[in-house]
Amino acid sequence: MTKKVYIETVGCQMNVLDSELVIGALRRQGYDLTDTPADADVLLFNTCSVREHAEEKTYSSLGRARPHKHRNPDVVIGVLGCMAQKDQDAIRKRAPYVDMVVGTGQLAEVPALVEKVKATREPQLAVSLGRADAGRHEVEASFVSYDPTRDPTMRPTPFQAFVRIQIGCDKFCTYCVVPSTRGPEQSRPPEHIWSEVRQLVDQGCKEVTLIGQTVNSYLHEAGDRRTRLSDLIAGMHDTPGLERIKFVTNYPKDMTDDLFDVVRELPKVVKYLHVPVQSGCDEVLKRMKRNYTASYYEDMLARCRERVPGVAVTSDFIVGFCGETEESFAKTVELVRRSRFKNSFIFKYSERPGTKAADRYPDDVPEDVKKRRNNDLLAVQNENSRADHREQVGRVVEVLVEGPSRHGERVTSPVKQLTGRTMTDHIVVFDGTERLVGQTVRVAVRDSSPFTLYGDVLTEEVIGVDGEDLPAQSSRPRTPRFSLPLVS
Ligand code: 5AD
Ligand code: SF4
Repeated sequence: MTKKVYIETVGCQMNVLDSELVIGALRRQGYDLTDTPADADVLLFNTCSVREHAEEKTYSSLGRARPHKHRNPDVVIGVLGCMAQKDQDAIRKRAPYVDMVVGTGQLAEVPALVEKVKATREPQLAVSLGRADAGRHEVEASFVSYDPTRDPTMRPTPFQAFVRIQIGCDKFCTYCVVPSTRGPEQSRPPEHIWSEVRQLVDQGCKEVTLIGQTVNSYLHEAGDRRTRLSDLIAGMHDTPGLERIKFVTNYPKDMTDDLFDVVRELPKVVKYLHVPVQSGCDEVLKRMKRNYTASYYEDMLARCRERVPGVAVTSDFIVGFCGETEESFAKTVELVRRSRFKNSFIFKYSERPGTKAADRYPDDVPEDVKKRRNNDLLAVQNENSRADHREQVGRVVEVLVEGPSRHGERVTSPVKQLTGRTMTDHIVVFDGTERLVGQTVRVAVRDSSPFTLYGDVLTEEVIGVDGEDLPAQSSRPRTPRFSLPLVS
């Protein structure tokens, strides 16, 4: 009987990509992916530590896996990713039946470690060095970027892919665990990235999303050649068959004009930038160690809109950070009101042990205040999202069709509700046949809500490279869709 692997993924796009790659590697070892934990021989939990809630979610999942392990002691349970790197001992203490703890820098070892558990029945631990455990080079070497050959059947859609261009982070925002869970910032050589993009396009991929914690800090130096993100994008732009290039997540201080210029000039680059500001109050930004002021951010935003007309910008916010008063929160509200983001992701501050903020500042904003501020900020953002989406009504937009919408998935007729994204990352739903999935079509926008545009396909004319009909999406093994932006 074929061996089966089950995986649960929490967190950012980096984790979604890591899960895709780990599953691809296990498939090459003869495993099939199952979405039923009770059927699995190997259960993997790819984890996130950015907020406490994400960690608790993993501990609940591990709790649910326990009876399965109890009934079938040969089952292998593995915890991967950020929690594995950060909390090796705590995991073994809270869930002693876990067989494998594998950090973000050791994912290549997963197939071998599974075999080792099976052969020895001994728990296996593979994690990188802590940031203060050794010199920079040694720590860097212990975080290995995991970029094996891609398996197109492992993605939610074969025509879209994440491509890692950088691992780690050196910004050390005081609230954030990422510099320790993902290690020092390291940019992959451009040739490796370009060749991965060519391989993906040969497999039918039309849209690549370049990912990094601070993707616009990408810099690769070899001899006297320096490759910035703008050069990297320019170097892949003319790949025949590639239609769209996105990149996330941007760090505000590194939004340089060369980057704005490639976004404006190169037609395949999506006119959408996710640039988290986190707070509109200078004192809070200082305690967060974001290295900019609110007015620096707003000037950057103005420059961005001037140099890239029509660009859509989104942001992240943390409310209730240590010492955030009503007055400082009001500054954030005003910044959101003025900034006209297409969308914002708003999070309640979650103290993370081991971070500078946890050491230095008391988590002094009560939970109910955090909740209220979250709702209040969301209400202001929703007004802007509504206005932003309303402005699109009457336009004709190019949509890369991603698949049936949630509503369309339940319909059996040949014409169903489909969903896709525009070149400014707006979500559009419209009626069409599944033949359009994976194609780029023109859609006339007829109506809007704060988060969605509603439109009609202008004939079933397809833009760009003509693709073959694609297999029904439901027949493909699905890795979980991501729901959160990358940290930055
Ligand atoms: N608490 C709450 N939100 C956080 N983020 C990062 N660390 C924390 C934390 N400790 C948010 C930031 C980041 C997003 C992905 O998660 O807004 O941009
Ligand atoms: Fe790095 Fe982003 Fe975390 Fe700051 S919030 S430390 S930039 S990953």
